[in-house]
Amino acid sequence: MSKSLSSILASSSAILALCAGCGKPKPEVKPVSDEPPKPLVMVTESSFPPYEYVENGKVVGVDIDICQAIADKLGRPLVVVSTNFEAIVNALERGDADLAAAGITVTEERRENCDFSISYATSGIAIISLKGAEYKDIDSAKGKRIGVQGGTTSDNYCTEEIGEIPQRFDTPRQAAEALKAGKVDLIIVDIDLARNIAGGDDSLVISSGLLCMEEFAIAVKKGNTELLAAINETLEILLHNGKVYDSLAAHVAHCAGEPPPAPAATPPEAAPDSDANETATAQ
Ligand code: ARG
Repeated sequence: MSKSLSSILASSSAILALCAGCGKPKPEVKPVSDEPPKPLVMVTESSFPPYEYVENGKVVGVDIDICQAIADKLGRPLVVVSTNFEAIVNALERGDADLAAAGITVTEERRENCDFSISYATSGIAIISLKGAEYKDIDSAKGKRIGVQGGTTSDNYCTEEIGEIPQRFDTPRQAAEALKAGKVDLIIVDIDLARNIAGGDDSLVISSGLLCMEEFAIAVKKGNTELLAAINETLEILLHNGKVYDSLAAHVAHCAGEPPPAPAATPPEAAPDSDANETATAQ
């Protein structure tokens, strides 16, 4: 290269280098945090198929799909903690968990201790009896030994509407075992769970219609409006695009013996990496 050409090139690249920095505003320098995103801790009670159940040591179900989508939206890994149903709201109040999803029915009494998202499912409660000894309504249940999962709306219904103090069990399965063992005459549980329990057992039958209707929602600590807004935004999308329905149908089918459902219900704009679901148990 001739000297004059190389000096022209050298000076023009110097000009280019100089111009690269002139005229335009300097790009904003964002501080890059080395800290990994804080996990989003979901508390649940894991014996409530199809909403939550344990498979291969991991809690799965409709509520986990929904919370995975919320975690994806927030760019945080989801950690699922399972505890006793009655301890769920306390876990929120203590700050041990960010959100609670456990097929939780919205009630005015619960609203005093936590805030609820919009509803994502309509449900209800019903009676399961032994085949041949069927209790069809609350009148026939009066004076009988009734089993429920402690702290649930079935528990409240029993005391408040039927006027009987029920036998309280930690899980609905334990209540069903007590029914089969003749320790209670009937049990009251949520309808989807009732279908799961009675559908897989020839000795049991759902013997009543719905005793009442209920709405499920996600709970957060009172006043956590920021997280509640993100939850509601994700729920709106999942309800609108049919993902909650799909998740429910897939888990119902899977619990009845079909192959596992497709991965979590993730809204379209959520982050793609949704493998971070860890499961912990806090009994
Ligand atoms: N829907 C009922 C309630 O809120 C029962 C929920 C039980 N959920 C569970 N994961 N065991 O009281």
